[in-house]
Amino acid sequence: MKIYSKEELNENSLSLTYDDISLVPIEISEIRSRVEAATKISFLGMNLGLPVVSSPMDSVTGLDMAVELNKLGCLGIVNRFDSSLEDIIKNGKTSSEIKAVSIALNSPDQLIDSLAEKGYIICLDTANASNKAVLQKCEEIKTKHKVKIIVGNIAQGSILKELVNAGADAVRIGIGGGSVCTTSIQTGIGIGQVSSLLDVYFARENENLNIELIADGGIKSPGDIAKAISLGADAVMLGRMLSGTRETPGEVIKYNDQLWKKYRGSASFGVKMKNEFIEGEETMISYKGAVKNVIDGISDGLRSSMSYMNCKDIATLKKSNSFAVLSNSSYLERLPKK
Ligand code: IMP
Repeated sequence: MKIYSKEELNENSLSLTYDDISLVPIEISEIRSRVEAATKISFLGMNLGLPVVSSPMDSVTGLDMAVELNKLGCLGIVNRFDSSLEDIIKNGKTSSEIKAVSIALNSPDQLIDSLAEKGYIICLDTANASNKAVLQKCEEIKTKHKVKIIVGNIAQGSILKELVNAGADAVRIGIGGGSVCTTSIQTGIGIGQVSSLLDVYFARENENLNIELIADGGIKSPGDIAKAISLGADAVMLGRMLSGTRETPGEVIKYNDQLWKKYRGSASFGVKMKNEFIEGEETMISYKGAVKNVIDGISDGLRSSMSYMNCKDIATLKKSNSFAVLSNSSYLERLPKK
């Protein structure tokens, strides 16, 4: 079997996603137990305990989720539809436990000014950052305010330099890969998440650009997070993995003797509720209880992966350079059987 470096994986003839690859431990690990592996990172000037960012979706990150994730050492980005944001802005309420919020391209200046003055990280939440209006908005905000800006989304690296020139501090990578995303079906746009991430990663490395990379969409498990970081992502953004937890906005619903919570795309009918183009689905997720359990599972899985890969910290994991491309049968063999 061929062991692929990042460069070789990036040159693969077909677009790849997480299930197409596997990490290959090639060193004798010096890590005795996974607790020795350190998952802390510095991200957008903040110290995080884990490279995990929540998606600014209205069924994922409200204030409760953002506050809890902050406690758990992760970054929560409050969704731009959240009505409690108004409290923060109009009544001057600030919470030191919330670090980031999302805005739309057409969000009022007053909102953006107020968020920037309070020192929040701003996430310019758009479906396609490879767009003039997005670049202009990013530049406008950065010229006016000293803030950190996350922009997105992009699926390959050709626009990265323009984003950096416009002042973007981090970029969300992934189009068409989200679990409730129908962009590819509706438009034919979107490539596999592994290929997207590598293309942007090499654009950054080759052009020596200063921007942090967020792997966004299609992440189903702690193993996928380990893969994304090994491919060079600075952090991952999660929607579905955090959905259905106690801290997500929305009610717990009892149906067929089971508990559920709603999870929906930002471009789904339920969010738009008007005659706009729909590029997202709505679904029900089995109730998962406290988000802490999910985050603990991620922490354990990631540390275990780092111990296999002989990586004592995230910086070392990001330098991983040994991957396998899986045949369909070997992918299936990896799944537990009943
Ligand atoms: P997931 O973790 O696989 O569920 O993906 C979450 C990501 O899907 C988000 O962070 C967005 O980038 C993307 N996303 C959210 N809503 C929509 C939508 O309605 N259409 C397309 N993509 C979406």
